[in-house]
Amino acid sequence: MLSAEKIKAHLCSDLKNVSINVVEKTDSTNSVVKKVGNKEKEWYTLVALSQTAGRGRLGKSFFSPCNTGVYFSILLKPEIEIEDFVMITTGAAVAVTRALEKNGVVEPKIKWVNDIFIDDKKVCGILAESVINSESRKIEYAVLGIGINLTEPESGFPEELRSIAGAALKNSAPDIKERFISEFMNEFYEIYKNPDRRGFMAEYREKCFVLGREIEVITADGTRKGKAISIDEKAHLQVAFADGSTEFISSGEISIKI
Ligand code: BTN
Repeated sequence: MLSAEKIKAHLCSDLKNVSINVVEKTDSTNSVVKKVGNKEKEWYTLVALSQTAGRGRLGKSFFSPCNTGVYFSILLKPEIEIEDFVMITTGAAVAVTRALEKNGVVEPKIKWVNDIFIDDKKVCGILAESVINSESRKIEYAVLGIGINLTEPESGFPEELRSIAGAALKNSAPDIKERFISEFMNEFYEIYKNPDRRGFMAEYREKCFVLGREIEVITADGTRKGKAISIDEKAHLQVAFADGSTEFISSGEISIKI
């Protein structure tokens, strides 16, 4: 079993008293934390060693096998406008890359908006969800969920994921799950506590490997070919489309043409 105490031991002093809870298995740590968001304090964290119904962005499922990955969700109560919410996910993406670097991973990259890639394979997904107060239209609370494949599952990834999913490390290391979680929390805290949360965007752009690449933008209305040009301060991706038009896109999915 993974140790909440070991996670806490590596946390920075401001996070020393947060509530860290570890379970062997749950349906989805994001779903569980979402249910307790009103009664728990900010930084309440739930870690699971496996999930039976792990959720990804855009309604997809997230493969969450035991032993080789770790899945956790953090309760946040950010005092930001809804339109700035993307800064939580982009900040988390930068914090994941920093936590990996601290654990010896060379050059983890970000695929817009917030997938983490190593050697062209996705190793980590981030799902940030918000609960909005219906009267004030303010964010009541948010749940930041991270799922990472630290090493490769014993029997490999399922056939349908084999060409896209990868593992962050070649070999496991002692307490790697605890160390990754505490490094992530420390790094994310540094970004999150800074009132100018956009300060990390330069690092985000530097680590984002889509700029200058031919891409396909996938939306509910279909797929459009274009080239990724830049990322603005709100993390919108500027795309020059094949028909000559240029747009800033704020959400959705892109695929990269090789
Ligand atoms: C994605 O790749 O689309 C995002 C995946 C996010 C997965 C994490 S695992 C912990 C938390 N609980 C969930 O059900 N999802 C997130």
